[in-house]
Amino acid sequence: MTIRSNATAAVEEMRKVRQARLYEPTAVPEDVVRQLLEVARWTGSSRNTQPWEFVVVTDKETLRRLSEIRTPINWVAEAPLAIATVMTGETPLSESYDEGRVTERLLVAARLLGLGGGTAWFGDNQQQAQGKDILGIPADRFARQVVVIGYPTTLKDHRPNANTGGRKPLSELVSHDRYGAR
Ligand SMILES: Cc1cc2nc3c(=O)[nH]c(=O)nc-3n(C[C@H](O)[C@H](O)[C@H](O)COP(=O)(O)O)c2cc1C
Repeated sequence: MTIRSNATAAVEEMRKVRQARLYEPTAVPEDVVRQLLEVARWTGSSRNTQPWEFVVVTDKETLRRLSEIRTPINWVAEAPLAIATVMTGETPLSESYDEGRVTERLLVAARLLGLGGGTAWFGDNQQQAQGKDILGIPADRFARQVVVIGYPTTLKDHRPNANTGGRKPLSELVSHDRYGAR
């Protein structure tokens, strides 16, 4: 495979993907939404089951109701766009992995397109049921989050109990040939 001429820049952009929670009120253009959904659609999944559907949410009232499910996601109310991932729920273990892959691709694509995004988890079983109810998702499906997308005004975590944004050094994470051999 040829190395893309701008690969280093693209990889650096990928490294810089962070959770965005605060956005400009600007709507995400329809062609951009379409590009994001194409990226999502082409994500690989276990045995190519493609166990997902997506609900694109731009309605302010719906975003507000989603934001009220749980305080740590109250910022969803002011976002211009959220994409709910709806999984079949038939093979939970591999679907968890698939859901993570599709989520991360959406977030990386958003960053590469000059936007930003964030994961907003509904929470426990009851809160997931609430999220599904708000979005009209059948009870037998598995839906636990929306991927929120927009034009970020900051990548700082503005919440009172903000997570520290740093990362562990590679020296703590990587072994060579055998676990623990640093
Ligand atoms: C599975 C998962 C669920 C998350 N749920 C939320 C959430 O409900 N609300 C929120 O504000 N951030 C949520 N996040 C974002 C993380 O808090 C964030 O990615 C982490 O603190 C690292 O920060 P950074 O992405 O800015 O580097 C979630 C991330 C993951 C991977």
